Amino acid sequence: MPLFRLRRDGGLPRTPRAHSPLPWLALIAVILGVAALTFAWLAGWIGNRLTTQRFTDAIEASGGPHPGFRRAHSKGVCVSGVFEPSAQARTLSVARAFSQARVPVLGRLSIGGGDPYGADNTARVRSIAVQLGTDDGQQWRMAMNSFPFFAVPSAEAFFEQTRAQRPDPATGKPDPAAMAAVLEKYPSAKAFQHWAKTAPWSTSWANTTFNGINSFWFTNAQGERRAVRWSWQPQAAFEAMDAAARASADVDFLSADLRQRLAAGPVRWNLVVTLAGAGDRVEDPSVAWPQDREQVVAGVLSLDHMQPQEAGPCGELNFDPLILPRGVRGSDDPILAARSAVYSQSFNRRERERAKGLTERAPEGAR
Ligand code: HEM
Repeated sequence: MPLFRLRRDGGLPRTPRAHSPLPWLALIAVILGVAALTFAWLAGWIGNRLTTQRFTDAIEASGGPHPGFRRAHSKGVCVSGVFEPSAQARTLSVARAFSQARVPVLGRLSIGGGDPYGADNTARVRSIAVQLGTDDGQQWRMAMNSFPFFAVPSAEAFFEQTRAQRPDPATGKPDPAAMAAVLEKYPSAKAFQHWAKTAPWSTSWANTTFNGINSFWFTNAQGERRAVRWSWQPQAAFEAMDAAARASADVDFLSADLRQRLAAGPVRWNLVVTLAGAGDRVEDPSVAWPQDREQVVAGVLSLDHMQPQEAGPCGELNFDPLILPRGVRGSDDPILAARSAVYSQSFNRRERERAKGLTERAPEGAR
């Protein structure tokens, strides 16, 4: 048998031509390029997309660098105590915190703003954060503020507002035109400004109402789902602090006041749950629900102990509002998801700085 056949024209058979690798290399290059661009876009290195990093950078820029501290609500004290649910609470949700008689609480009372040594008497916003830890290992974290509704309806709008608050390097103050543009664009920001200017200031954390603002879903043992918002309403009577009293108040008057109250006994708030009515805006925290909605007192928070945040357990806690127990779920309010992402970024940054020993020291004279 011949080793090869001659071609009809008598020539030797052609050696098959090797395929050129160029098209394959080009295809691989295109795939790698698309992957690299996608990665860069997701990481926020290209384009103008709002990422967790950009959001956290903007918050840092509006408050100045304070390594080792929260990027917002930086000044605060750790607190602890107990939550005792009411009998009605378990009709709303199967959350273990609503059926366990006494639930240990770790928390933090703070003021708005990025300065860990800022003055209490200039902070318009006061805050509370709590973690209810139940005997089945579940946790429920809440971070709430003294304002009754959020200034803006979306994470992008809050980003715009945060950027407008950045100090202009030329003047050291925010550019008034940038803030005016935000107020013009978002009517709720104007309403918020009105609240900030006109609502009376309270004399203490202990007589302040704190609102959850965002909406959540409760599910009870019958499987019924209700959209809810919650507030901590103080048992201590509200006392207003006028401008003169504020001007002469000590920069740390809130913690001094709390220390004094705790020496006399626990300070208490009722957990008031508001149930959404038909048509209430569940996904928009800039719209307050009507005053006549059904409310249930779901329990009582009693705080009996405080510690400086540098020494207490709250320093290393991230009060992510989406850490929730069974029976409670976050709504589709986009601000909730943004909060969860940005708090975790803020937490990672401050913990890294602490680990490297970069924590900002208290200025001379600060307590
Ligand atoms: C997109 C909107 C928001 C952003 C980007 C944002 C951002 C932040 C950041 C970066 C922190 C510091 C977190 C940490 O380092 O642990 C923080 C803390 C806090 N935020 Fe927000 N926030 C938003 C909306 C809200 C709303 C709607 C509320 C209240 C209803 C709220 C209440 C609080 C409270 C109470 C703290 C202090 C928590 C603590 O003591 O650890 N925030 N926020």
